[in-house]
Amino acid sequence: MTRAASPAQSVPASPAKAGLHALTRPTAVLQELRAFTWNGRTTAKAITSVGLSKRPIVVETLVNEFWTSKQRAASSLHEVSYRACFKPQLPRFFIERFTAPGDIVYDPFMGRGTTVVEAALLGRTPAGCDINLLSAMLAAPRLSPPTLEAVVARLEEIDLSMACSIPGELRVFYHEETLREICALREYLMARERRDSLDAVDRWIRMVAVNRLTGHSPGFFSVYSMPPNQAVSVDAQAKINANRKQVPPRRNVRALIAAKTKSLLSDVDSTARAALLRSSQRAQLMTGLSHNTPRLARGSVSLIVTSPPFLDVVNLFRLRYPKDSSSKSSSDSSCRASPPKP
Ligand SMILES: C[S@@+](CC[C@H](N)C(=O)[O-])C[C@H]1O[C@@H](n2cnc3c(N)ncnc32)[C@H](O)[C@@H]1O
Repeated sequence: MTRAASPAQSVPASPAKAGLHALTRPTAVLQELRAFTWNGRTTAKAITSVGLSKRPIVVETLVNEFWTSKQRAASSLHEVSYRACFKPQLPRFFIERFTAPGDIVYDPFMGRGTTVVEAALLGRTPAGCDINLLSAMLAAPRLSPPTLEAVVARLEEIDLSMACSIPGELRVFYHEETLREICALREYLMARERRDSLDAVDRWIRMVAVNRLTGHSPGFFSVYSMPPNQAVSVDAQAKINANRKQVPPRRNVRALIAAKTKSLLSDVDSTARAALLRSSQRAQLMTGLSHNTPRLARGSVSLIVTSPPFLDVVNLFRLRYPKDSSSKSSSDSSCRASPPKP
């Protein structure tokens, strides 16, 4: 942990706020972290050099397993898969120590929204940014979750048997009937979006459906495959099917969305709902490059908790959800800072 670099940064909010949080609390927290012991291991002190310029910023770095210290169970609301997400206990550890209710907690590389959801559950004001448009699509609905009853009722209303064209090559992932249901749901959501009538229940259903597209277990729409943001190509899936001697089984899209909704909402009691309601009204979730976020007022952020992309490891510009046969890239999903080679 460091006060000036990832995974957590402490940024004084304003002179008015600085009195408590930037001066007194961080000092107390630093003392706590320096004296911290986990599993017999004392906190190690190191120096981290941050920045790509010739004059990097050098910061004191404290290393230990802080956020696992009490192994507090995380809210079920976090249980959507996303590549390289971190445990909710990590942002919670720092949010509780460095901020007060109402403070803005920011994640410039928001991913599935672990920091923003945790910040909202703790009554802080969540702010997040991510270049991947799926990030806000996954995070925002969980800041104002509908009830299970409302989701089930809406699912019943949607006509999943409506005739629509299906991309036949995706039959390596899905049973034909399941694929028809997915396409019907997509048509419904796109029509609602065109009419500007997507509501919180639709957005929730879209979030769950995106997350159920592909995966390892019968809880996903697909036959055994890779999870959504590591989804493989049609050709690669055909090889997986041959190796595993599998054919896509029939899955019930409506039932799977309802079951996942039930599990996501299992910890969302009235206290959590009240905290989410208050926080979500002030939330700022942005889609774009995080180096320029004019919507965030200068000096307004009390704490940043983030995990940056792995530079030059995976390619941000080649997203697959899942990839169709018209895109032949073999590179990986999610996050690389440099543009793809032509
Ligand atoms: C390691 S993941 C963050 C995961 C997140 N901590 C969570 O728990 O879900 C890094 C994220 O950075 C995003 N990203 C990469 N480059 C970006 C950029 N220049 N601006 C904004 N987001 C970026 C990627 O889309 C990816 O979602």
